[in-house]
Amino acid sequence: MWVGGALGSVRSVATIRTATVEDTASLHDVCLRTGAAGEDATALHEDPHMLGLFWADPFVHAPEAVALVVEDAEGVGGYAVGVPDTGAFERWRDEVWLPPLRRRYPRGSGRTPADAAAVRLLHEPPPTDPAVLRRYPAHLHADLLPRVQGHGWGRRLVEDVLARLVSAGATGAHVGVDPRNARGRAFWQRLGFTPDAGLGEHLLVRGLRPPVTR
Ligand SMILES: CC(C)(COP(=O)(O)OP(=O)(O)OC[C@H]1O[C@@H](n2cnc3c(N)ncnc32)[C@H](O)[C@@H]1OP(=O)(O)O)[C@@H](O)C(=O)NCCC(=O)NCCS
Repeated sequence: MWVGGALGSVRSVATIRTATVEDTASLHDVCLRTGAAGEDATALHEDPHMLGLFWADPFVHAPEAVALVVEDAEGVGGYAVGVPDTGAFERWRDEVWLPPLRRRYPRGSGRTPADAAAVRLLHEPPPTDPAVLRRYPAHLHADLLPRVQGHGWGRRLVEDVLARLVSAGATGAHVGVDPRNARGRAFWQRLGFTPDAGLGEHLLVRGLRPPVTR
C-alpha cells in the first residue's frame, strides 16, 4: 500500500507492507529502540536481539499472525503485529518458538538486569488470562521509531492489522501497555481501546464487531 503525496514532507511519504524474515534485523532494532516503555532501551541491554526475539519475530512466523512494517527512505521505521487467537499463538510460541531460544539463552543468563529479565520471559512467559482470551482473543503490538511517530502511521498500521484480524475471525482484541507509557496508552485509547476494570490495569480492550473499516 502506498500512502503519502508529492506535497507531503519526506517523513510523511512511506509505504506499509508485510514484514518478512529479511526484516528481522530491522524489527529487532525498532523493538530495542522503543523497548523501555516506549523509549529507547539500547542502554539497558547488552544483547540487542533479546526483545525482538520475544516481542516481534514470532509474528513473522506464527500461523495466522499478521506483521506489517512502515518503510521510508531510511528503511523500516516501525511495525504493528498481531494474532487473531492469542491462546493458539501462545501454544505455538511455547511449543515451537521458545524451545530453541531457551537453549540459546539458558536460565540465569543475561549480562544486564534487563537482559536477565528478558531471559526469564523466554523461560516463563506469563499466560494470558482465560477471561481475556474468551472476550478479546486477538492481541497486537505497535512500535515506531521517533522519525515516523506522530504522522498517522501508527493508526494506519494498527487499522490494517485489525482489519486482517477481523477477516481471520477475531471478535475482540487486547493490548498490554506498560503503566509508565502514558503516550502509548493515549494512542490505543484514541483508536478505541478502553480499560476494563475486571481484566487488569495494564490491558486495554476493544470489540471488533461491527468490522473495522480499511
Ligand atoms: C504509540 C505509537 C505506536 C503511536 O504511533 P504514531 O504513529 O505516533 O501515532 P499516530 O500519529 O498514528 O496517532 C494516531 C492517533 O493517536 C493520537 N495520539 C497519539 N499519541 C497521542 C497522545 N500522546 N495523546 C493523545 N492522542 C495521541 C493522535 O492524535 C492520532 O489521533 P487521530 O488519528 O484521531 O488524529 C508510536 O508513537 C510509538 O511507537 N511509540 C513508541 C513505542 C510505543 O510506545 N509503542 C506502544 C506500546 S503500548
